[in-house]
Amino acid sequence: MLVFRGLFQTKNKTKNNIVMHTEDLDMQNIPQHIAIIMDGNGRWAKAQGKVRTFGHQAGAETLKTIVRAADKLGVKVISAYAFSTENWKRPVTEVNFIMELLSRYLTNEIDEFNENNVQVRFIGSRKGLPEIVQQKMEHAIEATKNNTGIILNLAINYGGQAEILHAVRTIAAEAANGTLAVDDIDNNVIENHLYTKGLPAPDLLIRPGGDLRISNFLLWQIAYAEIWTTKVFWPEFTPDHLVEAILAYQGRERRFGGLISR
Ligand code: IPE
Ligand code: IPE
Ligand code: MG
Repeated sequence: MLVFRGLFQTKNKTKNNIVMHTEDLDMQNIPQHIAIIMDGNGRWAKAQGKVRTFGHQAGAETLKTIVRAADKLGVKVISAYAFSTENWKRPVTEVNFIMELLSRYLTNEIDEFNENNVQVRFIGSRKGLPEIVQQKMEHAIEATKNNTGIILNLAINYGGQAEILHAVRTIAAEAANGTLAVDDIDNNVIENHLYTKGLPAPDLLIRPGGDLRISNFLLWQIAYAEIWTTKVFWPEFTPDHLVEAILAYQGRERRFGGLISR
């Protein structure tokens, strides 16, 4: 019986195996940090004749697959935009559903994060989040903190402007109480006061769903990120779309304001 159970488990694993076509990729030039604006859940659900929340559920599944695919490719950090500071404007039923989904996700996926050596982190403000979500976030950080594989950096109640405002206030308070001299405030000081402290800046920003905007994501950090968009909605985004985005990235010439000598 045990043997059979083992077989079934292997089968399930096979079913979850990542299928992607990596032959054209330059494995020496994989972006270290990819930021993803996980957009289009609601429109995808509507196109299936389903309620918007069905799309959020499907989108959570997509994230699992894409994190595993990215890890396989050697990506070090995925920053995934799950809920923005502006998303509170949505109907309370949708907001509540997303909060419950986050809470469930952060409970159910811990084992899988640990099996796959994924370290979970969060960016955004805890203030305003339901207590239970905050507890699950704390638990996810604690339970995965020793994992050394890919970092899944989840943006929850995140806004780029709110992040910069938070940094400015903290820096100003340090300047006012004399622990920081105004002349010492530089890019490093600012970066050390952002939620992303210690992480490299994103090399590649992916936005599915067809909109060509940033929607307040990582405003400071994306200064020189390469941007790739697709009309594909997030729930239907596959590892091959990730490969497509990285291939496009590998075709770009990153100049950082300088010149490339030829
Ligand atoms: C992104 O999908 C998820 C969140 C913003 C929480 P949307 O819910 O924005 O889906 P669309 O853009 O309306 O299709
Ligand atoms: C951005 O998507 C936020 C997330 C994906 C969490 P939105 O759907 O909120 O962005 P807008 O409103 O189209 O700019
Ligand atoms: Mg949207």
